[in-house]
Amino acid sequence: CGIVGYIGHRDAYPIIVKGLQRLEYRGYDSAGIALYHDGQIVVSKTKGKVDDLKVKAETSNNIEGSLGLGHTRWATHGVPNDTNSHPHYSNSGDLVIIHNGIIENYESIKKALTSRGYEFKTDTDTEVLVNLIEEVKDKEEVKLGQAVQIALNQVVGAYAIAVFDRNKPDEIVVAKLGSPLAIGIGENEYFVASDASPFIEYTNNAVYLEDEEMAIIRLGKEIKLRKIKDDSIAYPNILELQLNLEEIEKGGYDHFMLKEIYEQPRAILDTYRGRLLADQGIVRMAGIDQNLEKFLNANRIIIVACGTSWHAGLVAEYIFEDLARIPVEVEYASEFRYRNPVITENDVLIAISQSGETADTLAAIKLAKEKGAFVFGVCNVVGSSIARETHAGAYTHAGPEIGVASTKAFTTQITVLTLIALKLASEKGIFSSPQFHEILTELENIPSKVEKALESNDLVSHIADIYKDSTNCLYLGRGYNFPVALEGALKLKEISYIHAEGYPAAEMKHGPIALIDEQMPVVVIATKKGHYEKVVSNIQEIKSRSGRIIAVVTEGDETVKELADHVIEVPETNECLTPLLTTIPLQLLSYHIAVMRGCNVDQPRNLAKSVTVE
Ligand code: G6P
Repeated sequence: CGIVGYIGHRDAYPIIVKGLQRLEYRGYDSAGIALYHDGQIVVSKTKGKVDDLKVKAETSNNIEGSLGLGHTRWATHGVPNDTNSHPHYSNSGDLVIIHNGIIENYESIKKALTSRGYEFKTDTDTEVLVNLIEEVKDKEEVKLGQAVQIALNQVVGAYAIAVFDRNKPDEIVVAKLGSPLAIGIGENEYFVASDASPFIEYTNNAVYLEDEEMAIIRLGKEIKLRKIKDDSIAYPNILELQLNLEEIEKGGYDHFMLKEIYEQPRAILDTYRGRLLADQGIVRMAGIDQNLEKFLNANRIIIVACGTSWHAGLVAEYIFEDLARIPVEVEYASEFRYRNPVITENDVLIAISQSGETADTLAAIKLAKEKGAFVFGVCNVVGSSIARETHAGAYTHAGPEIGVASTKAFTTQITVLTLIALKLASEKGIFSSPQFHEILTELENIPSKVEKALESNDLVSHIADIYKDSTNCLYLGRGYNFPVALEGALKLKEISYIHAEGYPAAEMKHGPIALIDEQMPVVVIATKKGHYEKVVSNIQEIKSRSGRIIAVVTEGDETVKELADHVIEVPETNECLTPLLTTIPLQLLSYHIAVMRGCNVDQPRNLAKSVTVE
């Protein structure tokens, strides 16, 4: 979920609505806003998107006020409907809350509150929390800040919350555990949000709350930070943000996803800029340089991630083992954290996450740290929870990724992980200097080769038109391109709702081959290096069962052209770098199919970009 709050001298409504739109990547099942004006709180909320909320608020409600809270929801407890949407208010109607996260023990608290006369209008855990705060406030006769603190000490779960009291409209109280929360500090005004994007045009000064911290934000006063558990005072670390507004707007493209696909040449370049000095044969990465011994002495590297980032982890497994000869295991963070894994002090854990906020990945990191492993983060969002929670790390520098389906985050993650593998390989003396030089130089050619791969756009759009009504699709690849097949299938599933599966090409004969008939499009990655002949045999197996073949091949390939229904060419490159090119047409294919099917590409149903619940 995404939360936004404002207190100051401007109209809160436009700031909050625009902020919510920027945060829609965090969830968009429903949206709501509460505004304080003249002693009254006016709440508008609706199932659907922020645009639906705008219509509802502007046609039926007063939207005045300089204090307000807004929320865009990714449903956990309670179906997405108008009632369950946030903000929620307490029984007296005085306290208003927005909440991102889950209160795990809400049922028992709800029972207790019900027995003491509280009534609930919704199925949400959040309404329970706001009433608990109210009860504490009334019973203990304490101020709002203290009531929030006492209440939070009774709950189990994760949260970023913002609360205000109708009787004290110069104050917002916020708190965080697990879910992110940033406070923007303007001139006699404050902003609250899940990330800085809602307030970046008003101020560059922000404070990111740490876990178990709360803040009392009062107009005309400095922010007061406290630790929720022991009531000690914390000191705000005010950061100057680098984010720029243009980066978070669409810049002429129809969708963020397309913009982000096209940004990849630049994003990859930004990822290795300053780190890769090909002419000197050097890879320089502070997070690795300062912890080289940890990596070189590691028994193994464990990679944890979710979704697309997990696919980047699989590519990294091939690269690390192939180039740096370090054993690697790749795990879904959600499985790893709950399966009592064997972790020792000689393990290095690499957590990959675009957002740096994924709850399962964060939990896996905490577990590995407890067991003494060295934990390294590969994140895109600067200052994110994972970036802060890890011992060291490397940012991908892809710039903000807004489209829910991850694109440039994936290729830049692979770029960072390749740099790390190269660095370790060279430290271990694995490569001869010419070999090492060859890959470094080739990495520098990747942005222009990605540019070239993007030229397939019209052809891919034509292919999309032919297959847009398919109900199933199979993606096959081998070696480095097996994870790319998984990622291609995930992209199609996510945004076009066509069922798709990715498989290692050779595994096809052990099951998926049964699915193949003339209705079944099969996307095969068949680039020249990496088991090319074997993949060609797999293509023949598909052809003899009348499957429709869309092949991604190396420029100039003639053999596959004879066999496949369609070929999409990508430039030739070193085998370990092929995923950076073969991914591109697969991203475009899913994009065009989704657009042709009338799907909401940037905000596919049921998904959220940043999943801060487990
Ligand atoms: C969500 C998104 C995916 C993403 C995954 C992991 O499920 O919809 O696109 O790959 O989370 O996110 P992260 O931010 O940790 O990379």
